[in-house]
Amino acid sequence: MIAPLLAIETSCDETAAAVLDRTDDPARPWTTLANVVASQTAIHREWGGVVPEMASRQHVRDICGVVEAALDQARLSPADLRGVAVTQGPGLVGSLLVGVAFAKSLAWSLGIPVVPVHHLAGHIESLVLAHGELPLPAAILVVSGGHTSLYSVREPGQYELVGRTRDDAAGEAYDKVAKLLGLGYPGGPAIDRVAREGNERAYDFPVARLTHADRNAPGPTAPEGLLPAGIARRVDFSFSGLKTAVLRLVREHAGAPARGKVIPAEGLHAALSPQQVADIAASFQRVVVAVLLDRTFEAARWLGARSVGISGGVSANSRLRADAAERAERYGLPVYVPPLALSTDNAAMIGAAALRKYAAGEAGSLDFNAEAALAL
Ligand code: KG4
Ligand code: ZN
Repeated sequence: MIAPLLAIETSCDETAAAVLDRTDDPARPWTTLANVVASQTAIHREWGGVVPEMASRQHVRDICGVVEAALDQARLSPADLRGVAVTQGPGLVGSLLVGVAFAKSLAWSLGIPVVPVHHLAGHIESLVLAHGELPLPAAILVVSGGHTSLYSVREPGQYELVGRTRDDAAGEAYDKVAKLLGLGYPGGPAIDRVAREGNERAYDFPVARLTHADRNAPGPTAPEGLLPAGIARRVDFSFSGLKTAVLRLVREHAGAPARGKVIPAEGLHAALSPQQVADIAASFQRVVVAVLLDRTFEAARWLGARSVGISGGVSANSRLRADAAERAERYGLPVYVPPLALSTDNAAMIGAAALRKYAAGEAGSLDFNAEAALAL
């Protein structure tokens, strides 16, 4: 048993530490004693996005304080710990290395096991940490700044990829459109906020329909036949066309000439009124949320799912949450989302995934390294 467990997450621009312990309740075996996040958004905002070099340096500055704060909150000292969990990948390699080196050193000095965790397994297990085991099989959408992927979960802890984005992740599209509209970084929360003031029917943005197999696709992990071939294509995502449509519209509004002088994309929003910005944000969000939910519920139907889960940073979106609840009602299929603190990157979810792995006999050794493109 590796609880109490310290978990560490440093895959992108949040330095996070959490402490998890066991409970006596078999339906909810784990409880979160502390969940601390030091966000770097104020640092990266100035640059309009995450600067990897600055992110890793800031992780180095923050990691000791964040771990100490988590232990303090949990009223534990390092000697009380029975295990350490850490995000191994995917993510920014310089950022991952800080967490991995810290976790390995601490575990080695305390003589306790360290469990490497896949970041997306963390996002999936955030649902179980919050709600207990979901009714299986489950269709789970992980939607964040780096990923938009659909998984079939037939057995606890077994994640089979059934659909994914062919270009941008949904969170990435939110961030790019927000930048174009002059809403700053990170874009998701900003669009979520201004969209409430906008008319979501003001603009009719296109929805990409995918009918052909993706020739550049990495091999799916789902066994052949889990989804019929035609459906397997239909539950993929694509957001780059939508992003281009927004850019084209903003250029038109800005009166940018088709030829000749080109205004840089970042300067275009100056020509938009606040109402136009809100209308574009609301119309963009309507399409993104509809596509995410259409594909997820279509996959759920074909998978015979008994529940749907939605996790990752974009699952914090208020419109996505409201519409998901409405569809849950309409289809009589329970939909689970994490509480806000477990939606965006955090370490509690990494701890939950590590406890699952360890219980399945995947013990930690020190023999692993950070992997920027780790496969699930
Ligand atoms: O999971 P996460 O914290 O980090 C990654 O693993 O990528 O997700 C971050 C992403 C960002 O793109 C951010 O804009 C988006 O989640 N996000 C949102 C909201 N809050 C965060 N997107 C839409 N609406 C939100 N309320
Ligand atoms: Zn994430």
